[in-house]
Amino acid sequence: MKQRTLTILKPDTVARRNCGAIIARLEQEGFEILGARMVRLSEEQAMAFYAVHKDKPFYRSLVEFMTSGPVWPMALERDNAIEHLRLVMGATDPAKAAPGTIRQQFASSIERNAIHGSDSPENARTELAFFFSAVELA
Ligand code: RTP
Ligand code: MG
Repeated sequence: MKQRTLTILKPDTVARRNCGAIIARLEQEGFEILGARMVRLSEEQAMAFYAVHKDKPFYRSLVEFMTSGPVWPMALERDNAIEHLRLVMGATDPAKAAPGTIRQQFASSIERNAIHGSDSPENARTELAFFFSAVELA
């Protein structure tokens, strides 16, 4: 069944000019891009987006990273989109990411790991609404 998920091309991807290659990969994987807009997150917005991690030791650094440059959120649609995106992204730590995954290919560290993907249907809904209005994705 068709499902929607949110991805974000992170600041390292934009800075290293890997957006095109990663978008091409996502399209090859059968994702349809329903919405996309390059944005610069404020500190408050980055903190809110990653609020689930507010008690983690890496939270402060993650917020700094995500506000360090433009990011490119995209609404994606595909069969089993949430799980499939996580599979194609690979593990959070590129050293542990399987060969052929986006993070294995493009991430430079456990923090600067190229791409975000929603991890559950509930989070996908919340995260899509964070960046896109219902009208934009209609
Ligand atoms: P994401 O939410 O961005 O899709 O990544 P994820 O599910 O694979 O990883 P998660 O545990 O949700 O962590 C969110 C992001 O925080 C940074 N991080 N840094 N220094 C560290 O140990 C560490 N751990 C996580 C990464 O940018 C990670 O994607
Ligand atoms: Mg996560």
